[in-house]
Amino acid sequence: MAQVPGWSRDDLHFFLHGSMGTEVVPERVLRAFIRTYPDLFPREDLSHFGLIPDPAFGWPVGFSRRPVPHLGALYAVGVNCASCHVAEIVRATGGAPVRVFGPASHFDAEAFFGAVTVATFRTADPANMKRFLSVYLAAGDPTGDETAQQLLAGQWQRQEPALVAVIADDPSGSKGVAVGVLHAIAGRELSLDRAALESGMDLAPLVRAVLRLFHNMRAALHIPDRPPDKVPPASGPGRNDAFGLLSAGLLGVVQPYAPVKYGVAWNLEGRRWVHWDGNTQSPIGRNLLASLGLGAPLLGKRGLLDFTTIVRQTELSEKIRAPRYPFTIDQPAAGRGAALYRARCASCHDGPESDARLHAPEAVGTEPNRARLFTQAQAERLNTFLAELEIPGYRPLDVPGIRGTQKYWAPRLAGVWARAPYLHNGSVRTILELLTPPGARAKSFRRGSQRYDTGALGYVDEGAYVLDTTAQGNSNAGHDYGTDLSSAQKLELIEYLKTL
Ligand code: HEC
Ligand code: HEC
Repeated sequence: MAQVPGWSRDDLHFFLHGSMGTEVVPERVLRAFIRTYPDLFPREDLSHFGLIPDPAFGWPVGFSRRPVPHLGALYAVGVNCASCHVAEIVRATGGAPVRVFGPASHFDAEAFFGAVTVATFRTADPANMKRFLSVYLAAGDPTGDETAQQLLAGQWQRQEPALVAVIADDPSGSKGVAVGVLHAIAGRELSLDRAALESGMDLAPLVRAVLRLFHNMRAALHIPDRPPDKVPPASGPGRNDAFGLLSAGLLGVVQPYAPVKYGVAWNLEGRRWVHWDGNTQSPIGRNLLASLGLGAPLLGKRGLLDFTTIVRQTELSEKIRAPRYPFTIDQPAAGRGAALYRARCASCHDGPESDARLHAPEAVGTEPNRARLFTQAQAERLNTFLAELEIPGYRPLDVPGIRGTQKYWAPRLAGVWARAPYLHNGSVRTILELLTPPGARAKSFRRGSQRYDTGALGYVDEGAYVLDTTAQGNSNAGHDYGTDLSSAQKLELIEYLKTL
């Protein structure tokens, strides 16, 4: 708890599993998806999405759980701050994992929500619906034994033509509601148990309610009711196209793809403008946008979420301190590296938090998309959105919380060892690579490993996702500071960076 001395046990639990209003998949449905579609969910504990299993809670770190009215009052799970801002790091040579609060996690959020969405579409197929209901029965009913399964199979067979017709009539569950509007679904419409099956249950209303439930889940995630013609590029672990998704989901403005690494949530007390381009000075505004982007429904200007939970998550996150380097440091070498840091890096990365930290993409030379796309016009749209947003207890800031800088912020480098892979788009795997001339950096590398290379400062080149730096939004160019140092000097500078 060295990073969070101000937190109680209860605070810790709330940060790891408390709500931020995003619960969007009923637990029972997610269990059934996992077992129905092993190709989408290869591991029951969801660790293949880069999530950290937490058997005591039943779902990974960063998952919260609560009954959700628009999901038939079923207990549903969603993600919170910790899913994207808590990471476990293991030394490549072995040892126990070190849990770090605040950096970009290894969670592939787009892949997780993508899998859930694909599962909703797939289940609108009679054969899949049948398999889904069988697992849904088992997941929800402790007496969902062999007899119950046989009853379900029998009922399905008898009613099949009618059930196929129900699905064909409204496969997306969206009949009768406008785009983005939620159906009212009562809990009993979604119940399935042995008792009901024994009394000759009519399955048609259940199938209809399940399809409507899927519509509600997608509506809360701002996802259309039919699969996209073109699959968007995959951002991989620890990254997503955050402002692009918000722009499309909340403002209806589609932007070119510009993936970013999840931000760094520590030492926030000393900061005012956050995000890679220093565009936001309202922590509450930032977190409301995250919540509304990740599953809290938005109906017109009304956000359906409990504002007090956002306030608590925000307050807790403001108390996180940068993590100390957990492995050994060669102190004499670090001492020599300090002078190199002062000469080559400090002018941009140290000193007061002012707009002098903003650098045009042309000047720093890194991937320009993220900075260029977030214009003042875009900022004003979000400011208007936040000013008009209605949530009980929430009052917008008196001054606009968001601005367009179209530049990149040179951040303080506290805890820099834990911020790999580097730059706003996570396109440079290690510090040693960052200190390598851009043309000689790896053109692609693998991402998803938690194993950490203490010599180069970064994750080992392994994992399921390939980050191709030649693809749109992924450039690893620029920031060539310190690349002309000798090999020995680079190692000294790296040793010093471990002390920050
Ligand atoms: C789905 C993943 C995700 C979740 C969940 C999430 N964030 Fe973030 N966070 C991001 C991304 C991505 C950014 C960077 C956005 C940008 O600058 O373009 C970010 C940026 C930040 C920053 C700014 C850091 C900096 O260095 O400028 C803070 C602080 C932060 N998040 C805190 C939170 C808190 C508190 C919560 C919970 C209420 C939260 N985040 C939930 C992905 C997430
Ligand atoms: C002229 C200003 C400038 C100098 C000098 C400079 N940097 Fe940076 N640095 C930046 C900017 C701006 C960014 C953000 C660029 C981006 O993300 O695209 C950045 C980003 C970084 C990051 C990425 C942080 C993260 O969370 O991913 C690291 C690490 C870093 N710099 C280290 C260094 C080191 C080490 C030196 C000295 C050898 C140095 N910088 C010199 C401006 C500078």
